Amino acid sequence: MSNTVFVKNAAQLITMQGHSEKPAKREAMQNIGLIENGSVLAKDGKIIAVGSEAEIRNAYPEIVVIAKEVNAKGKTVTPGLIDPHTHLVHAGTRENEYAMRLKGKTYMDIMNAGGGIHATTEATQKASFEQLYQESKKRLDTFLLNGVTTVEAKSGYGLTTEHEIKQLEVAEKLNQDHVVDIVSTFMGAHAVPISEKDQPEEFVDKVINEMLPKVAERHLAKFNDVFCERGVFTPEQSRRILEAGKQYGLIPKIHADEIEPYGGAELAAEVGAISADHLLKASEAGIQQMAEKDVVGVLLPGTAFFLMAEFAQARKMIDSGVAVALSTDANPGSSPTLSLQFIMNLGCLKMGMTPEEVITATTMNAAHAIGSAHEVGSLEVGKKADLTIFDVPNYLTLSYQYGMNHVDTVIKNGQIVVE
Ligand code: NIG
Ligand code: FE
Repeated sequence: MSNTVFVKNAAQLITMQGHSEKPAKREAMQNIGLIENGSVLAKDGKIIAVGSEAEIRNAYPEIVVIAKEVNAKGKTVTPGLIDPHTHLVHAGTRENEYAMRLKGKTYMDIMNAGGGIHATTEATQKASFEQLYQESKKRLDTFLLNGVTTVEAKSGYGLTTEHEIKQLEVAEKLNQDHVVDIVSTFMGAHAVPISEKDQPEEFVDKVINEMLPKVAERHLAKFNDVFCERGVFTPEQSRRILEAGKQYGLIPKIHADEIEPYGGAELAAEVGAISADHLLKASEAGIQQMAEKDVVGVLLPGTAFFLMAEFAQARKMIDSGVAVALSTDANPGSSPTLSLQFIMNLGCLKMGMTPEEVITATTMNAAHAIGSAHEVGSLEVGKKADLTIFDVPNYLTLSYQYGMNHVDTVIKNGQIVVE
């Protein structure tokens, strides 16, 4: 296998340079670092040069000669896309609930009747490690074919110490075996199990005293997430869980204000969360506080689309100074998609984002949302050579021809992995 690769002459090379230190906000989200007829040279998995073909040939004549060449003429090249919020590891599907919702049942009705997250929890608990691994691997393969080279993956369908750890171990093994990088999040507080529904405080204690220490001790997660929503976990319970996670070095994330305004965005700012996600109903004050505290707003328009709900106010958040990222929220209940490109389409068509903003939101700002901005998210010297080549002549076409997979080639750690 060649350890050097030369991607040359892209019609548009989107470098995303200059955003590695801080997530991009407001006008900075427009700045995608476009180079026309741009080229990238990578060696040993890292980017060593970005510029025009002639510049790179002059600077690295020996390396360019031996490098594997990828001709990107007429195509658009971006940093490998990053999905900062997925429920990758789970068993089964819930198309039956989809049919029920089409007849008028709500997401919360179904969950309160023992379906929803509980249904997937039952399936995930029953699944063997191998079965979970295979199902999740298939999803990861699809992510890659759709141009995604890094994903965040949450637990939260185990809901017992044993099964939460099983989910995280599947993610850990997939991270070792698969070319896509996985960053793990512990989400023991995704729902109170049905059998414990009358003792929610006891379940919170269990998350804090039993699950968190074991997950931390085995280094199975970087983040700690909570579903803060009426009928699931209150802001007080969420605060306790997130503060406890901090004691173990786990960085807070929150599923916030998805169904109703519930103080989730405010709590994210208060506890120093790296991101608050969903935010369909985030309050004005919450949005301001997130902007002030540099909490990345991870918006999941696939969920609003699929639940037939109102979309998050991306335009308002960006204009208020929130750094916005986009994600699929891939899960079997509220967003069964693996297409981050479709999410980009929705960002433009349903949330008033610009084509430049949706690219920033799925590269550099997504990297910031998962603490990986130092190594991925842009095409800059020293970063991982993760590139997605789209068969479109310009980036505008990515959000214009919607609902399609435009991927031509994917390069991960300097190796061609999709062609
Ligand atoms: O992010 N909102 C909570 N959790 C997931 C959905 C989980 C499910 O329905 O299985 C979400 O939308
Ligand atoms: Fe989610």
